[in-house]
Amino acid sequence: LPVGIGKANQILKNASRSTQPSSTGKITGVNAVVLGEALASEDDELVFPNDDFSRQALVPSLEKYLEMYKWSVEDPAGFWSGIASQFYWKQKWGQPVFSENFDFRKGNIKIEWFRGGITNICYNCLDRNVESGNGDKIAIYWEPNDPGSQDSLTYSQLLQSVCQLANYLKDKGVKKGDAVVIYLPMIMELPIAMLACARIGALHSVVFAGFSAESLAQRIVDSKPKIVITCNAVNRGSKVITLIDIVDAALIESAKTGISVDLCLTYENKSAMKRESTKWQEGRDVWWQDVVPKYPTTCEVEWVDAEDPLFLLYTSGSTGKPKGVLHTTGGYMVYTATTFKYAFDYKPSDIYWCTADCGWITGHSYVTYGPLLNGATVVIFEGALNYPDYGRCWDIVEKFKVTIFQAAPTLVRSLIRAGVEYVTRYPRKSLRVLASAGEPINPSTWRWLFNVVGDSRCPISDTWWQTETGGCMITPLPGAWPQKPGSATFPFFGIQPVIVNEKGAEIEGECSGYLCVKSSWPGAFRTLYGDHERYETTYFKPFPGYYFSGDGCRRDKDGYYWLTGRVDDVINVSGRRIGTEEVESALVSHPQCAEAAVVGIEHEVKGQGVYAFVTLVEGVSYSEELRKSLILTVRNKIGAFAAPDKIHWAPDLPKTRSGKIMRRILRKIASRQLHELGDTSTLADPNVVEQLIALADR
Ligand code: WT7
Repeated sequence: LPVGIGKANQILKNASRSTQPSSTGKITGVNAVVLGEALASEDDELVFPNDDFSRQALVPSLEKYLEMYKWSVEDPAGFWSGIASQFYWKQKWGQPVFSENFDFRKGNIKIEWFRGGITNICYNCLDRNVESGNGDKIAIYWEPNDPGSQDSLTYSQLLQSVCQLANYLKDKGVKKGDAVVIYLPMIMELPIAMLACARIGALHSVVFAGFSAESLAQRIVDSKPKIVITCNAVNRGSKVITLIDIVDAALIESAKTGISVDLCLTYENKSAMKRESTKWQEGRDVWWQDVVPKYPTTCEVEWVDAEDPLFLLYTSGSTGKPKGVLHTTGGYMVYTATTFKYAFDYKPSDIYWCTADCGWITGHSYVTYGPLLNGATVVIFEGALNYPDYGRCWDIVEKFKVTIFQAAPTLVRSLIRAGVEYVTRYPRKSLRVLASAGEPINPSTWRWLFNVVGDSRCPISDTWWQTETGGCMITPLPGAWPQKPGSATFPFFGIQPVIVNEKGAEIEGECSGYLCVKSSWPGAFRTLYGDHERYETTYFKPFPGYYFSGDGCRRDKDGYYWLTGRVDDVINVSGRRIGTEEVESALVSHPQCAEAAVVGIEHEVKGQGVYAFVTLVEGVSYSEELRKSLILTVRNKIGAFAAPDKIHWAPDLPKTRSGKIMRRILRKIASRQLHELGDTSTLADPNVVEQLIALADR
C-alpha cells in the first residue's frame, strides 16, 4: 500500500460522520478569491460524500478502494488484463502482459503493455458500441458559440462520418504510421478527424487552435504530416478567428525548412465564415464538404499492435523546443477508459461535459477516447465560456441536463469573480459529479465549486495528471472517501506515487518533495517523438529508478496528496503549460530586445501569470509602444495565451559570476517578496537587484 493510506484508513474510520464541515457549513469568500492562501493549511478539513451518493457509487467505500488498489499494485498484469478483456481484441496480447525498464542504469528506458495484442481504438470507441445496441445513443452533443441552436451525432452517425473521412484519407495515400496534423477548434469534425486517423492507424497530432502560425509550423516540421486538417474560421465569443490564414502562414514557414504539405483539408465552418470570403490556395486547399461526403460510410479497420503509436501531442518542457509526447494504442485505451469510468463515477445514463479543448491532453483522454470507449454521451462546446455572459456554462448544463461537469480551476476562479448570481440563476439539478484538472485548485475555489455550483451535494474529482501520463494519476473516486478541499487525495489503481528528496531518496509518511512514480502504468507515454534520449534525460535521469513528474508534492499526516506546482521552469497559465524558455526566445527574437528572463507569478484568475524581465539593446529606451510590440511578438510566436502579463524593464539581469541568471531572485522580485531575496552576494554585480526593484512599477 502507498505510504500513508493505511493510516488514512484508520483515521477515516475513527472520524465522526456528524462533523461534516463544508457540506453543511456556510459559504465563505464567495466573491473573494483568497490569494496567496497556503495550499497546505487545510489538512484537517474532511468533506464527506453523502450516503446516498456513496451507495450508488462504483467504488462505494475506502475499503473497496483499498481492496482494488492492493490488487492493482500487487498483480498489475492480472488487474489490467481483466479490464483489457472487456475491449475487442482481434488477437489477444502475449506474455508478459507488460514489461518495463525504469532504470536507465540497466539500459534503455522501455515501457510496453499488451504487446502482441491486435486491436483498434476507433473500433472500440464506435463499432463496439454500435454492435452492442447503442447505435442510436447520442455520442456527441455540439453546442455552437452562439446560443440557440445545437447539433448532435449518434454512435451510428459518428461511425459513418468517421468512416467517410477515413476512406478519404486512405484514398489520399495516408497509411499506417503516417502523421496527420489537425488544427481545428471544438467542432464535431475535431473528434471525427482524430478517430478517422486512429481507424486507419495514422498518428494524429492535434495542435490547439490557439497556437500561432509559428508554433504550428514548428509542429508540422517535427511531425512531417501528409495532410493538415483545418477549417476556415471559428467563432469565439464576439470574435471570428480565421484559422486557414494561420495554417497558410505556417505552411509557408514550414516549406522554408523543406517540409511541404500538399494537401490541406478545410472544413467550411459556415456560421463563422462563408467559403466565398475565404482566402484559398488553389491546388492545395480542398473543402471537406466537397469531398468527404462522397466516400462510403463504412471503412475497414486497420488492426494495429497495442504498442503501435496512436498519437503525438506536443507539450512544453523547461528547455528547448516543445516535446512530441507519444502515446501508443492498447495501454492508452485501457487506461483512459478505466480512469474515465472510476474518476467520474460514470454511469450509462450520464451526460458528460468537459470544457477542455481537444488541442490538449484532457481533450484527448476525457473528451474523445475515455468517454467514447465507455459509450458515453459527451457535450462539446465551440465558443467562449463567458459568452454571451458568465452564465453560459450553466445554460449549457441545463440545456443538455449535464450530470458530470469538468473544468479547469481558472474557469472557476473567473466565475467566482463574475458573481454567484450567474450560477444561481440556473437550477443545475442534473449535476452529480464535478471535476477539476490542469492546475492546483486552491481550497477556497474548491469550496466555491462545491458549495455554490454543486449545492454541497456533488463530489469534486480534482484529478492530477499530465500529457505524459495519458490519464488521471492521483484523483478522488467520487463517493469512496472524504475529500479535503485542494487535495487530489489518493493514487488511482496501479499508480505508485513516491515523494523523493533532493538526493532522490524516497521519503515516507508526512513530507514534501519531488513527485515521482515507481513502475509503469498502461497509459504512460512511451517516448518523445524522434528523441528517446531526451525522454530518458528529462524524465528518468533526474531521480534514477523513477519517472519524475516535474511537480512538487506534499503528503499530509493522513496520507492525502497535495500538489504544489511545478518545480522546474515550466509555468501553468490557466491550466496551459508554457516553458519559460519558449517565451524568452520569443522575446529575444524582437530586434530591440537583448535579453529576457521569464518567471511565473501568482495570478488571481489564471493561477499563474507570465512575468518577463526584459533588457533592451544598447541605446533603445523603453516605451509603452515597445511594451506592446514585445507582447505582440509573443502572441505571434507562440499564441495569445502565452502573452506576458507584465514586462519589467531590466537594465541588467542578476547573474552569477559564471553568467547564470539567478531565477530564484527574479521570482522574489516578481512576486514583490523583497525581504526574502536571500543571499545576493554570489552575484557578479549585486547592484543589479537594487536597480530592478527601483524599476518594478515602471
Ligand atoms: C501539469 C501537467 C490534467 C492534465 C492536463 C494538463 C499541473 C495538472 C493538476 C491538479 C495540481 C495539476 C501539474 C502537471 N496539474 N493537474 N489536479 N492539481 N496541478 O496536462 O498540460 O501536461 O500539465 O499540470 O503541474 O505537471 P499538462
